[in-house]
Amino acid sequence: MTLNDSSVQSLRQIFPALRKITNGQPAAFFDGPAGTQVPQMVIDAIGNYLINHNANHAGLFETSVESDQMLATAHQAAADLVGTADPDSVSFGSNMTTLTFALSRAISQSWNPGDEIVLSRLEHDANFTPWTLAARDRGVTVKMIDVDPADCTLRLEQYEEKITDRTRLVAVGCASNAVGTINPVESICKMAKQVGAVSFLDAVHYAPHASMDVQNWDCDFLICSAYKFFGPHIGIMYGKRNLLESLQPYKLRTSPDDTPGRWMTGTQNHECIAGTLAAIEYLASIEERASNASSCQAENVAPSNLDDSPQNPRRQKLEASMAAIRQYEQILLRHLMEGLERLPEIKVWGITDPERFDQRLPTISITHPKHSPKAIATQLAEEGIYVWHGNYYALPLTESIGVEPEGMVRIGLCHYNTRAEVDRLLECLARL
Ligand SMILES: Cc1ncc(COP(=O)(O)O)c(C=O)c1O
Repeated sequence: MTLNDSSVQSLRQIFPALRKITNGQPAAFFDGPAGTQVPQMVIDAIGNYLINHNANHAGLFETSVESDQMLATAHQAAADLVGTADPDSVSFGSNMTTLTFALSRAISQSWNPGDEIVLSRLEHDANFTPWTLAARDRGVTVKMIDVDPADCTLRLEQYEEKITDRTRLVAVGCASNAVGTINPVESICKMAKQVGAVSFLDAVHYAPHASMDVQNWDCDFLICSAYKFFGPHIGIMYGKRNLLESLQPYKLRTSPDDTPGRWMTGTQNHECIAGTLAAIEYLASIEERASNASSCQAENVAPSNLDDSPQNPRRQKLEASMAAIRQYEQILLRHLMEGLERLPEIKVWGITDPERFDQRLPTISITHPKHSPKAIATQLAEEGIYVWHGNYYALPLTESIGVEPEGMVRIGLCHYNTRAEVDRLLECLARL
């Protein structure tokens, strides 16, 4: 079952923020790559935690026991989301940037002068600067994979040449938060593995659009952030167990030495972990909600057949839901691209050939020869259309394609956006 206009309308009902009116117009949220809105069940889960189960970890009294049960369930849900059976290989933390800085500090302890790491120019700076600073501290050489400015894809042939037996780490994003390009992470991780290098994936932009699969990708580490996939502001880190156990994180003497506890320094944001669990359950429910919506209006509760029976575990539901999301977003993407083609002054960065849309997400960056990204975003904001402008921290990319300092305008579609919102956006762009 795929999503369609009517099932998306039903899903939108459970996102209170989507009712917002700006200057007399319904707000159109195309700012998903900077952070998505949340369904009511996420808001309820956070409130419910704070009202009924708010406690620190490992107490022997009722609220602490309940809180720890919730944490265990959340680890399992996060494991289902990234595609591993091992809930202890997943830890929570403040956000992707903070988790990556902490991980880079642990991983780089064994690097020596003469070693090399391989990064890419398609990245958000959070998958660049933590590694380059660690390399600087350890006297390690950084090798960069370039971007082809014609379609904003990585020059993949450079991996063959730049990954050598001196390589200690290969870090790459699953998809670009600026231009939507999806990278072939499975083959990149394979090349890293062949020389014994650690592979690290930034899945922050990919997570709300398609199914993550650490098992098949065979990556060593992957990090994503729940606020990009309809949850609260918190980060999630997956790591292979042998590495989580053998690396030495910077941690207190008093914090646990087993995994994931050794990676989760300090008191955790329990209410946001409860919200993240609800966000993952929302994602898992989408395909069934879409089916139910075809016969009745979706309600503000999970449909009754959302149990985790062995025949239909959460991972399978997540895969089905993410496939439904991907299919619907591809339809919206085509619609937007066709509209942009009718506006010849606008340049679309990234893959524009519909035959290759399977290689991109529905995140589109545009520029205009006469209007700055800031001017365009300001005009759209006045009309209740929320887009981003600038470099969205994808500085390695914007520097490499020459759009600094003004950057681009980013239109980020996600599954709660509609064809009507895209039409409104296109009308406004036509009036520039
Ligand atoms: C692709 C990508 N990587 C990393 C980050 C940083 O994530 P966080 O805000 O969780 O640190 C972002 C945030 O926009 C992003 O889009």
